[in-house]
Amino acid sequence: MIVLGCDHAGYPLKVEIAKYLTEKGVNFIDVGCDGESCDYPIIAKKLCNKITDGTCSTGLLFCGTGVGMSICANKIKGIRACVCSDYFSAKLTRMHNDANVLCLGARVIGTGTAIELVDIFLNTEFEKGGRHQRRVDLISTLED
Ligand code: RB5
Repeated sequence: MIVLGCDHAGYPLKVEIAKYLTEKGVNFIDVGCDGESCDYPIIAKKLCNKITDGTCSTGLLFCGTGVGMSICANKIKGIRACVCSDYFSAKLTRMHNDANVLCLGARVIGTGTAIELVDIFLNTEFEKGGRHQRRVDLISTLED
């Protein structure tokens, strides 16, 4: 299951991505907001809780730049969030970092690019084992 969340600045892009996922038959839940002005750290926490409690495996966060959401999400144990605006990073952050949250900036990228980034993020597997696993395990040690 995927979870979506945004602040007011990210809302228009979240709506577009929600529409796209619905058309593709991809199930998701939405932790808000619904377009009203709000504080992105609150939404980031709500979304990450859905991942750390096991309800969802992957999150998509939207704000103006994607940066605020990624800063907040990466403070939560068990979350590996990446703000991306290019295809290569969105792919490699799954393959090498086992990222579980993709952050997108609605004031940075357009809907077409966002759809491509979401697609590649959701459809790329982590390269299990070996050096990447060792490095992801080391990331976990930084949380303590
Ligand atoms: C809200 O105006 C804006 O600061 C927020 O969406 C985000 O871009 C923060 O990183």
